[in-house]
Amino acid sequence: MKTEILKATEESIEKAAEIIKDGGVVGLPTETVYGLGANAFDSSAVEKIFEAKGRPKDNPMIVHVSSIDEVYPLVKKFPEEAKKLAEKYWPGPLTIIMPKSDKVPARTSGNLDTVAVRMPSHPVMRKVIEKSGCPIAAPSANLSGSPSPTNAKYVFDDMDGRIELILDGGECEVGLESTVITLATEKPRLLRPGGITPEQLEEVLGEIIIDKAVKSKLEENAKASSPGMKYKHYAPKIKVVIIKADKEKYAEYVSSHSKNAAALCFEDDAQNMSVPTVTYGRSDDSSSQAKRLFDALRELDETGAEIAFAHCPSDEGVGLAVYNRLLRSAGFEVIEL
Ligand code: TXA
Ligand code: MG
Repeated sequence: MKTEILKATEESIEKAAEIIKDGGVVGLPTETVYGLGANAFDSSAVEKIFEAKGRPKDNPMIVHVSSIDEVYPLVKKFPEEAKKLAEKYWPGPLTIIMPKSDKVPARTSGNLDTVAVRMPSHPVMRKVIEKSGCPIAAPSANLSGSPSPTNAKYVFDDMDGRIELILDGGECEVGLESTVITLATEKPRLLRPGGITPEQLEEVLGEIIIDKAVKSKLEENAKASSPGMKYKHYAPKIKVVIIKADKEKYAEYVSSHSKNAAALCFEDDAQNMSVPTVTYGRSDDSSSQAKRLFDALRELDETGAEIAFAHCPSDEGVGLAVYNRLLRSAGFEVIEL
């Protein structure tokens, strides 16, 4: 299959919607990361997403809508708390898990009795949903296990020959995937941190539970609240180790372990480095780190180094999402100095 990349225009958006109506898969921009979209109600279309990504079959999809009305057919119950969250943070980088209706195929929800729903803010994605006339199931547009793509070229690198069309809508604004919260449990539980912070969720919900898997490795054989937590994630080919230390100690550590090494550090660390260096944002600005992290992980593979020492970010606010993704890309290896 030849994979075409088209700049997002009225015409190419129309084409993308036609492919989705016909049961195909398209690479689509959202404000978080690029997604691989198909009709969420069509099991065989969703099956093609699993094939293109090499995704484990029990890992459910997020279903994307362009209006609140589209949520009702997807859920058994639309809880009041979900409506409040939607009112405050949709469209935007927040996914809400709710009890699912019978209309959502088991293929889409990974055989669970819940469904994950998100209303994205990216105008291209919203138009594609409207024109397709169906909710769109879309995981991130990377090969399973790789960092999520934040531009059309990275989608092409992973998906060339696997899908028909990629719509190029420019760089993603947030750079990390949406926050995932479940309201299908007794107490609201944060499963994946993202652009909407725990504090923002608590403004609406009161106290929430932060799933243990957000900041630590899931124990062998433990049941994951979210199937995606089980799998190796966001890993570049290079080995990544996180160094938790101040600026000076970090720089010292890297220079005394410089053989075949690269540094993944903040812009304000970069001048002190003695090895090939890739930066991810400013040390005091978690949003700038979020926006750069996945690109930086891909760029590390181009340095030719074997190991990358990553300067540990703050885990406050949006930083929790940055820390969560970096931990997974490092296979949870952290050296504290
Ligand atoms: O920002 C995003 O959320 C992007 C863009 C494309 O919208 N999508 C995305 O999808 O990150 P994906 O499939 O890469 O990640 C979805 C995560 C997975 O970890 C999955 O296991 C979890 O959400 N998930 C989906 N449905 C779930 C459910 N019903 N219960 C628990 N976890 C669920
Ligand atoms: Mg993903």
